[in-house]
Amino acid sequence: EPATKRQFRIWRGDETGGDLQDYLVEVNEGEVVLDVIHRLQSTDAPDLACRWNCKAGKCGSCSVEINGKPKLACMTRMSTFTEDETISVTPLRTFPIVRDLVTDVSFNYEKARETPAFAPPPGVTPGDYRMQQVDVERSQEFRKCIECFLCQTVCHVIRDHEENKPAFAGPRYFIRAAELDMHPLDTRDDRKEYAQAEQGLGYCNITKCCTEVCPEHIKITDNGIIPMKERVVDRKYDPLVWLGSKIFRR
Ligand code: SF4
Ligand code: F3S
Ligand code: FES
Repeated sequence: EPATKRQFRIWRGDETGGDLQDYLVEVNEGEVVLDVIHRLQSTDAPDLACRWNCKAGKCGSCSVEINGKPKLACMTRMSTFTEDETISVTPLRTFPIVRDLVTDVSFNYEKARETPAFAPPPGVTPGDYRMQQVDVERSQEFRKCIECFLCQTVCHVIRDHEENKPAFAGPRYFIRAAELDMHPLDTRDDRKEYAQAEQGLGYCNITKCCTEVCPEHIKITDNGIIPMKERVVDRKYDPLVWLGSKIFRR
């Protein structure tokens, strides 16, 4: 298969501003968008900034928006576009620009720090963490997260609403809370209430955009967010559940 030339439109600029620039680039069979970015860096755009590391969909570094959809550049095959399509590559919209395709994702690290850490019972050391497979299964799915923050950039609660950021941790941290809530050795029994009161779980209206973009196919909404919400609702508004929790708590 001979190389073909394809039309790309890439956002160039920094925190002071920028715009889309057109490039006609060689593309070979089997390539992904990140290959094309690397070719541009070695030809027409040597100073094009882009973050990447593993080129195998495992480090979560190469997150960008391709034709407006949040994606990993290393996992987006050129064969998924039509020959005559112009392919736009822009930085993650929800985070501040550093330069070109690189954004400042520190919002996510702040939210990670604010999420209360795993709280094992006192006196239990890491070697004592013996659990049955059946007890860890529910939370195991969430541990596949590669922290690409595609779910964070797509969520409409913060995508165009800078003002919601202080009060909203985002889907990645809702599944972190859910993971700890389902962890058999975690002693905090207020993960759901905390998610509601401090992490902004109530802002989520279950649009499921986060689940659609997750490259690890984690069922963020159905398996993480909804069970957290349901149980908050159960305890708060269901008088029987509330009564039960009072009577049977020892
Ligand atoms: Fe990325 Fe999925 Fe983790 Fe969100 S949950 S950061 S989309 S791997
Ligand atoms: Fe946002 Fe996902 Fe909820 S995209 S609104 S966190 S279902
Ligand atoms: Fe690591 Fe794309 S370069 S996920």
